[in-house]
Amino acid sequence: MSTDITGTATATTTATATADLADTVVVPRVVTGRGPATLRAEAVSAWFGDHKVLDRVSLTMPARQVTALIGPSGCGKSTFLRILNRMHELIGSASLAGRVLLDEQDIYDRGRRITHARREIGMVFQKPNPFPAMSIYDNVLAGLRLNAIKASKEGKDDLVEECLTKGGLWKEVKDRLRQPGGALSGGQQQRLCIARSLAVRPRVLLMDEPCSALDPTSTRRIEETIAELKSEVTIVIVTHNMQQAARVSDTCAFFLASHGTPGVIVEHGDTEAMFDSPQDERTSDYVNGRFG
Ligand SMILES: Nc1ncnc2c1ncn2[C@@H]1O[C@H](COP(=O)(O)OP(=O)(O)OP(=O)(O)O)[C@@H](O)[C@H]1O
Ligand SMILES: [Mg+2]
Repeated sequence: MSTDITGTATATTTATATADLADTVVVPRVVTGRGPATLRAEAVSAWFGDHKVLDRVSLTMPARQVTALIGPSGCGKSTFLRILNRMHELIGSASLAGRVLLDEQDIYDRGRRITHARREIGMVFQKPNPFPAMSIYDNVLAGLRLNAIKASKEGKDDLVEECLTKGGLWKEVKDRLRQPGGALSGGQQQRLCIARSLAVRPRVLLMDEPCSALDPTSTRRIEETIAELKSEVTIVIVTHNMQQAARVSDTCAFFLASHGTPGVIVEHGDTEAMFDSPQDERTSDYVNGRFG
């Protein structure tokens, strides 16, 4: 009996799941218990056509920690994040060099399926992107596609409750699971997207400015969710909000692309140390709001 699933992260990221998924969901039992993984980028470079935007970026994002990526606009943070779950290669002109290791296995190895990497390494975007007409319940399950097994109703109910609880949304929506995802507030929609990403049991969750469109209360709620999740999924978050980076992250990496040169990591390490006593003057200027 196989419980492998395919195409899940594609569904979470490209809004292609439109069908009624009620009978086409499989709960990925075999993938439970794998736990968070360490993600390591080794000498990652990236190009769009001839334009090199990242230059040999290396960074370890440890399991059970939150890593924040900070830096001015255009320095390559989102590009780096997309390379971490093989979304960069979806862009026609894009190319890359280097390696990305998930618990020491290169996600770009020949023979490793792209869908596998995306399932293991989920992504939440700046703008919440639930399927607006789909119910809250089906939104949570939308990342799972049938692959030979039909889940029981109880299995689906349990998964929906578990993921919405972990996403910090259960109490607010438990009595209206059949209402459309689009009827939720922006902050709730973002937590629904987090719940949806969790349903495929990722080992790493990438978040690209997940709070930038949200009010302070919703932002705080997402930050609490991040703190609760980090024991079970490695989190990498891009943020322009220095207070947020200081609040939520254990380690931090400062990206910079100066004067048209490709982005590099200027400094990385323990978040508190980076904010209190940065080693590089440029980091100091940035975290203290003197540029960017
Ligand atoms: N699809 C694309 N095609 C061509 N160039 C791109 C594309 N996406 C990004 N770039 C370029 O790559 C560089 C890095 O962009 P990226 O979006 O990764 O920066 P960022 O650090 O996430 O910026 P921001 O903080 O504004 O989100 C920029 O010079 C940008 O113009
Ligand atoms: Mg970006």
